[in-house]
Amino acid sequence: PTIHILNGPNLNLLGQRQPEVYGAETLADVEASCRKLGKELGVEIGFFQSNHEGEIVDQVHTARTEAQAIIINAGAYTHTSIAIADALRAFDGPFIEVHISNVHAREAFRHHSYLSEIATGVIVGCGTEGYLLALRHLVGKLG
Ligand code: DQA
Repeated sequence: PTIHILNGPNLNLLGQRQPEVYGAETLADVEASCRKLGKELGVEIGFFQSNHEGEIVDQVHTARTEAQAIIINAGAYTHTSIAIADALRAFDGPFIEVHISNVHAREAFRHHSYLSEIATGVIVGCGTEGYLLALRHLVGKLG
């Protein structure tokens, strides 16, 4: 099986951006850990990041034919994007929504997610380990 990991705006700055909130690891580090775990678990990993909403929509569409499950950290688009939520509605497999920080312990505008009500599961506040937890869960689920 193949799992696509999609990252939204500003996550390219991981490690440099508010490290007290998001930690010191870079997105390249996260990609490397996901690929390593993917190899151990016997799944193909696709790893993407974009700062553009429409590109993330396109990546969800690509996953419709190329992946069996999605892990998505949509960044701030989590709280604003009906378009990304609708693209995920058109994806048949399971998807896990991940947030590095505990969005519920932060500003009120981060408490609502357009994705959570349609997600298979949501992992927040576990740091970048959240991606690995999601990966393990989905691999178990896909069997
Ligand atoms: C985030 C939380 C969002 O509120 C924020 O806009 C991000 C990152 C997280 O991983 O904690 O860009 O998705």
